[in-house]
Amino acid sequence: MPVPLFDTRTPVEPLLPAIEAKVGEVIRASRFILGPELEAFERELADYLGTQHAIGVGNGTDAITLVLRALGVGPGDEVVVPSFTFYASAEAIPPTGARPVFCDVDPETFCVTSETVRAALTPRTKAVMVVHLFGNVAPVAEIEALGVPVLEDAAQSAGSTTPDGRPGALGSAATFSFFPSKNLGCFGDGGAITTSDGAIADRARMLRFHGSRDKETFELVGHNSRLDELQAGLLRIMLPHLDLWCDGRRAAAAAYEEAGLGEIAALPVPFPGTRPAWHLYVVRHPEADELAAALKEAEVGSKAYYRVPTHRQPAMRPYAEGVELPATDELARTHLAIPMSPVLSREQAAEVTEAARAVSANRMR
Ligand SMILES: Cc1ncc(COP(=O)(O)O)c(C=O)c1O
Repeated sequence: MPVPLFDTRTPVEPLLPAIEAKVGEVIRASRFILGPELEAFERELADYLGTQHAIGVGNGTDAITLVLRALGVGPGDEVVVPSFTFYASAEAIPPTGARPVFCDVDPETFCVTSETVRAALTPRTKAVMVVHLFGNVAPVAEIEALGVPVLEDAAQSAGSTTPDGRPGALGSAATFSFFPSKNLGCFGDGGAITTSDGAIADRARMLRFHGSRDKETFELVGHNSRLDELQAGLLRIMLPHLDLWCDGRRAAAAAYEEAGLGEIAALPVPFPGTRPAWHLYVVRHPEADELAAALKEAEVGSKAYYRVPTHRQPAMRPYAEGVELPATDELARTHLAIPMSPVLSREQAAEVTEAARAVSANRMR
């Protein structure tokens, strides 16, 4: 049986009657922007994460630009960011007027550490963006101890947990994406900013609404970027199921381990103490493209998400001169995402593992 890379449909199927009813409800209420569904979702998301505030915006990329501006980042400032992430993490920085400064990551966890961040700090560093990549959770407290505000890009880590709280509640502020394939996805584009700092929340709320509180006085040159009522209403139906879906992701990861996948490829390593809700299940193999070909032969989905890391992308050339990131380059070459979803079964995990056995057992150490 083919095994798809992800399955966004099966988990939401039991919720379809509630989803369809909500669509009708919102349309009949005729409030589509900045209404009661968004207000309720913001409260529910903040409560789930353990933050004081959540602010719904148009997508995860806007969330980063807006929150950096709300943190006071602007021209002349630098923001440290990993290169091994989705391009948007860095792309969202230049619109604030600041420069992205790329740092390396830990090769086993895919996340930045206080050591990799320290190497990129300068007197102009205004903030550090940690990316909780693939659902793993970067060590926010250790990085904050370096004396810089930490912004969490939590786009891929909704539902992960740590002893200090959930991603989204660990730094000065955080951002989420509700892109449909995310752990908590909507049915289009969507995003959120979370923080427990009232001043940051206040500025972020204005920035998403043309820099205004009331559409009469415009205090800032802002943006037009809101999570709409339909998406907010539908996210309210899905949020109560997030933890269960994340348990399913963790069970799938355990099934890969039980099936012996670790004998063939290096498995993702949770940051110590954390319980990642694997958004993507990314293994490492010295011949990652051969592994992908073997999986394709068996109709198993796989994808190398970041073969060209962000600092090597053409648009990032102005910010990448002289940047050397050995762990990032190695990961870019060796990583491969294999099937992961809340409903990936033990049988499917075993099938993927058997298909992977076709490549040499010359795994990474
Ligand atoms: C790590 C990371 N940051 C930022 C984003 C941007 O989110 P969006 O696509 O909602 O703009 C994404 C996802 O697409 C992401 O994976």
